[in-house]
Formats: sequence, structure tokens, C-alpha cells
Amino acid sequence: MVPLKRRKVTTVQTAVQDNSTCTFSDVAIFILERKMGASRKSFLTRLGRSKGFLIEDSYSSIITHVVSENNSGDEVQLWLEKQNNGEVLSESVHLLDISWLTESMTSGSPVPVQDRHRLKTTPKPLSVTPLIVIKSYACQRRTPLKHHNAFLTDALEVLAQSAEFTENEGRSVAFRRSASVLKALPYVVRGMEDLKDLPCLGKHSLKVIKEILEDGTSREVESTKRSEQFQAMKALTGVFGVGVKTADRWFREGIHSPSDLIRTNQKLNQAQLAGLQYYDDLNRPVTKNEAMAVSHLVEKAVTAVRPGAVITLMGGFRRGKEVGHDVDFLITHPEEGTEEGLLPKVVNWLKDQGLLLYQKTNNNSYLERKDGPARPPSNMDRFERCFSIFKLEQSTVCSSTLLNAQTPNTDTKESIDGTGHQQSGLSWRAVRVDLVVSPYSQFAFATLGWTGSKLFERELRRWAGQEKGMSLSSHALYDAKQQQYLRANTEEEIFAYLGLDYIPPSERNA
Ligand code: CTP
Ligand code: MN
Ligand code: MN
Repeated sequence: MVPLKRRKVTTVQTAVQDNSTCTFSDVAIFILERKMGASRKSFLTRLGRSKGFLIEDSYSSIITHVVSENNSGDEVQLWLEKQNNGEVLSESVHLLDISWLTESMTSGSPVPVQDRHRLKTTPKPLSVTPLIVIKSYACQRRTPLKHHNAFLTDALEVLAQSAEFTENEGRSVAFRRSASVLKALPYVVRGMEDLKDLPCLGKHSLKVIKEILEDGTSREVESTKRSEQFQAMKALTGVFGVGVKTADRWFREGIHSPSDLIRTNQKLNQAQLAGLQYYDDLNRPVTKNEAMAVSHLVEKAVTAVRPGAVITLMGGFRRGKEVGHDVDFLITHPEEGTEEGLLPKVVNWLKDQGLLLYQKTNNNSYLERKDGPARPPSNMDRFERCFSIFKLEQSTVCSSTLLNAQTPNTDTKESIDGTGHQQSGLSWRAVRVDLVVSPYSQFAFATLGWTGSKLFERELRRWAGQEKGMSLSSHALYDAKQQQYLRANTEEEIFAYLGLDYIPPSERNA
């Protein structure tokens, strides 16, 4: 506390006390008249002063001890804040019950403040920025699906996507990391001061955020969204089987949309042909009910060819999303080895039922001794897997909107017309489905790797490498220091090896 001599008295006093009569100059007392009455206040004031206590008539910034009778701490605080023009009281001011003053006067000097003297106040929620610590790796944070700052993260993700389209990965990841930090905040960002001490927010992201907070929009984001290149790249990479490189080449050749692909008679591979044919369906979000219907089909197919196999929904739906761009499944079998070669059989079963519009199956090419420690941690795993497009009958989807379907069982869907659109039939839709098979011993790693989000996965691998000297993939965790693989049966064990708190799937929406 600042010694009294150096403090400035800001309030004019009605009855001036000569400081030289005060024995205890670092204790300045104010007695609250509220509920006590003027006569008792003046009695106590006179008595105190006669014993050498500094007792001020008015409240001011020099006061160190506020004494009151029959008031709650909150009442005293409110009264004082009113006197102070609403300014929040300094924590160094003691709010005390009268017992402290009477004890002090009895003992002849100010007694040390004890808990029983203190008036209890309800802690106030800190006004703007709650005191929270946001860790810098997304895998150290909980990121719920629904968050408070979509108006900022949507904008940053436009810039991230635009950077992806120009193959500027560093820039894209920087924007995604910034957006991800904002998704983890338990409050709405209203001003730049709300971003103090947050990690991962680079200059560029901060500039965009500032503009949106001040003007409502960011010029850079708006002009990006309007740009011909951005729109063309979005439309072209929206064709299943088309990556950024191909789309960019087409764009530079003047092809800006799926219908341009048809018009110019572009040479397309099988995946792209299917992508073009089912363009509208594949760009329409898959609902949870549709995902469940696909689940039943996959379950039927898998158990028909390999009883005892375990099928788990992965990706966005495992994280609690209501819609997705596809449906992801991980399949395993408790008897290690019996999962081998499963997918071709599943695919044949599905084909026989007329449920597949497209599929491409890859064999498992992972070999621990070849793929393990030497390889850099990679995004691509090497499981047996199948990228496919299912034909999903609407009649198998449990949904209230079905009641409105007019022609539930007739095959009305035609292949693409000249504009790249399909005639809108209601009886079925195309759905992208990813099937992955993992050996039982790798199941925990595969589960972690296929749950996502993509940024969460990326951050897990970065954490493992940079902070732990380990290499994480969807197959295994390798400890480079101990030069050994770390085995795990559950995701929890993997988080523990990595020295991370366990984050449930619903909070991996980084
Ligand atoms: N994944 C992968 N290898 C790929 C594609 C995807 O390991 N070639 C993983 C991703 O890392 C992600 C998960 O599979 O964790 C799901 O990917 P994806 O279906 O693309 O994204 P979702 O998170 O499911 O989002 P969406 O709802 O858009 O499908
Ligand atoms: Mn998915
Ligand atoms: Mn997928």
C-alpha cells in the first residue's frame, strides 16, 4: 500500500483532522453512515480520532479501510462504486465489519485484518476478457462444433481456401490455425482487446479480424470470394476426383465450371466422370439420417462377407456434425489377419445389390518395418481402402422430409445434362462413402487418424514430432528416443503417450 504521506486527498473534508494527531498514518478509515445513522457515525469518529486513528469524513482514494455495520459486502461495494463514479474499487481497500474498528480501538492500534472481519462480496465476472489460457497446438485445446466466432472464422477460412488453390500451404495453414484458435474461445470476439495473449494469430489474420470488427466485412475476403479464379477453383475442385493442380491447369485453359468441362469435351478419368455425373448430389450435404442409412448398408455388406467385423463411423459424423461431404467408415476384425482382403468382397456384395455408382479400392500397402520410423509422418495412410459413391434410395432414409417425396421408388434420375446438372429425381441420391480397413492392432491409431478434423490431425502429428520426438500416423506411434513403437488399444492411451489431455471426438472440431 502506498504510504499516506504520498497520497493525494481528493475530497474536501467537512471536519478536517490534523494528520499530526494520527498515530497510525498508513491506515485511513472511512465509516459508512448507511444503516448506522449519523449520530453513531460521529460518535465512533470522535472516539477513534481520540485514540490516534485517521478517520476521514468522506470517502476518497486515500481510504484503506472501510468500516460499516449491518451492511453486506455487496451493498458496501455498490455504495462505494457510486461515490467513485462507477469506478471499480481497488482490491487493496478493505471492506470491514465494525468489529474490526471496535477491536482496534480496544487494543489501542489497528489490529491485523482477519477473515472474520471481512465483508464477503460476490466475485464479479471479469468484464470483457475472461481469464483463460488458450494453448497453441489445436490438439491441446477443446474445440466444440458450435462456437462463438463463425463471423470471423468463415472469413479466415475463405483466405485459407484461396491459399490452397494457389498451393500456398504455409499461408493456408496459418489462416486455418488462426480460425481454429477463435473456434476454441468461450466468448464472442468484440474488440481487438479480446485477442490479447492468444497464440497463432499472425499479422495478416489480425488485420482481417480488425477490419471485420470495425467495418463488418473484410475487403480482401469479399474480393477473394468474388474473384473469378476463386469461384472457378471452388467449382472445379468440387468435382470428385479433381485436385487443385488439375483445376488450376483447367482454369488457365479457360475452363471455369463443370459445364465447361462437358462443352470442351475434356478427357476425364473414371473418378472425374463419376464426379461430373453426380456433381449436384455430391455437392449437396449428406445429412445424419442419410449417414445412418449408409451405415446400415455398410454393416449389412460387411457382416455378410465377414461376420464379427466391427464397423465404426468416422470423420465429421463421429465429431458430432449434422452434415458432411461424405460418410467415413473404419472396419476391423478382432481376429487379426481376417480383415485382409475384406474390401473387394464387400464391394462385390454392394455391386450385386446395385448400391455402388463408383468405387476404387486400394490394397493395404503398409509394412511396419518399411514404413515406420524412417518415413516422415504423413497425412496419407496406406490401409486397404475404398473411395466410393453409393446409390442411396431415399426410401431407406429415416427422415420426416421423406413424407413429402412424391415418387419414392422410381428411377427418375438421369445422367448430367448439358449444364452439368441432374434432373431432380427424388427416389435416390448419390453419396460419397470412404471405407477403410485396419488390422485390429492398429485400430486405435486408425480411429484417431480418421476422426479428424484435418487440422486436429495435423496438429497432433506436429505436436508428436516437435514436442515429443515421436512420429504419429494412422498406423502407429514411434518413439524416436526410445527407438521403439508404442502400442495402444485405445485413443486415450495414445493421448497419454503424447503427454496430452484426452480430447473427445466432439471437441476435435479444430
Ligand atoms: N483422411 C485421411 N486420408 C485421406 C482422407 C481423409 O486420413 N486421404 C482422414 C482425415 O484426416 C480426416 C478423416 O479422414 O481425419 C475424415 O476426412 P474427410 O472425410 O475428408 O473430412 P471430415 O472431417 O469427415 O469432414 P466432412 O464432413 O466434410 O466429410
Ligand atoms: Mn468425412
Ligand atoms: Mn472422407
